[in-house]
Amino acid sequence: MLQSWFEKKINERKENLLLRKLTVSEGLIDFTSNDYLGLARSEELSRQIVLRMRDLGVHSNGATGSRLLSGNDAYTQTVERKLARIFKAEAALIFNSGYAANLAVLSSLPQRGDTILYDELSHACIKDGARLSLASRFSFRHNDLDDLEQKIRRAKGRVFVVVESIYSMDGDECPLIQLTTLANGYGASLIIDEAHSTGIVGESGNGLSVSIGVHEQFAARVYTFGKAMGIHGAVVVGSQLLIDYLINFSRPFIYTTALPPHSVVAIECAFDFLSKNIALQDALRNKINLFCEQVASVDNRTDSKSPIQTALYPGNENVKRAAQKVQAQNFDVRPILSPTVPVNAERLRICLHTFNTDDDIVALASLLKSMNGLV
Ligand SMILES: Cc1ncc(COP(=O)(O)O)c(C=O)c1O
Repeated sequence: MLQSWFEKKINERKENLLLRKLTVSEGLIDFTSNDYLGLARSEELSRQIVLRMRDLGVHSNGATGSRLLSGNDAYTQTVERKLARIFKAEAALIFNSGYAANLAVLSSLPQRGDTILYDELSHACIKDGARLSLASRFSFRHNDLDDLEQKIRRAKGRVFVVVESIYSMDGDECPLIQLTTLANGYGASLIIDEAHSTGIVGESGNGLSVSIGVHEQFAARVYTFGKAMGIHGAVVVGSQLLIDYLINFSRPFIYTTALPPHSVVAIECAFDFLSKNIALQDALRNKINLFCEQVASVDNRTDSKSPIQTALYPGNENVKRAAQKVQAQNFDVRPILSPTVPVNAERLRICLHTFNTDDDIVALASLLKSMNGLV
């Protein structure tokens, strides 16, 4: 009975060309991972993690319980204090992933009678977190502060506005200065997901809102470590009261086994490594500039100055064909299908990295130029 229902659902996906499959790409040049600074592949960082584990005398393979039970230790709290300093906040709380962190914040801060307004291009975990809360939730048009203002005016209860610093699919930035002015004018609380700016922007990789000095305007900030930091996990930073609240009321923090000790050591080591190799940020910027110069004449792009670049090929079938063409030239570039992105905004998502050679970037750009939106 259940098996035939699975089959029906899978067949529907196949018919709609939406079937997801796990794939292993070997030997292709990485233009798809979020390892923007190459930390995930850094042998030096890997060695430093092993050495730090030894120096700290960490022998446990797992956290053994929730942070509120057996899964807490003094070292994790030391790392949290260090993260609070890095992100210029009063306090910090580590989560097992960015997904869990966003779920935690959005499901627990807004209450019944409140309103959540989120950018329409927000990541799925922001939408899922909002769904778990008992507040009303509405999207506003991407980066459109006029639309946001109209929705704030109509909103009931306390208003929570949720944005990303750099959007995961378009790679563009949120206009943070104008946003904070608007939200302040209406007394709305701001929440920011800095998943794609963590590491690549700001002193020690502390993200966009800190680097432009508006971080104190946010009630909660989420930073993730699985992208430019090359490791795993996430942190929520803000006031000590926010952190105490999350420890008490956010279910994705309370009811899960804490990160294993290795992951906590990796977080500390990755930030130490980046501080000593902060020139990687400039190296990445050079790669982005090179790619943008090369594709300046290509029309089917979104405007992005970040390592996330796009080539739009509307239609799932169309974008899949475009991806096959690019992959055939040895470039690992993936198609992003609707409904992950809106219908007709299907695209190749191209991620640039410090380790991409200039020759490979130029070759990929010239292939995209020769395709210029057509397959
Ligand atoms: C904007 C954004 N937020 C959160 C996440 C989730 O982070 P994690 O992979 O650590 O769960 C992602 C990951 O794709 C993301 O792009």
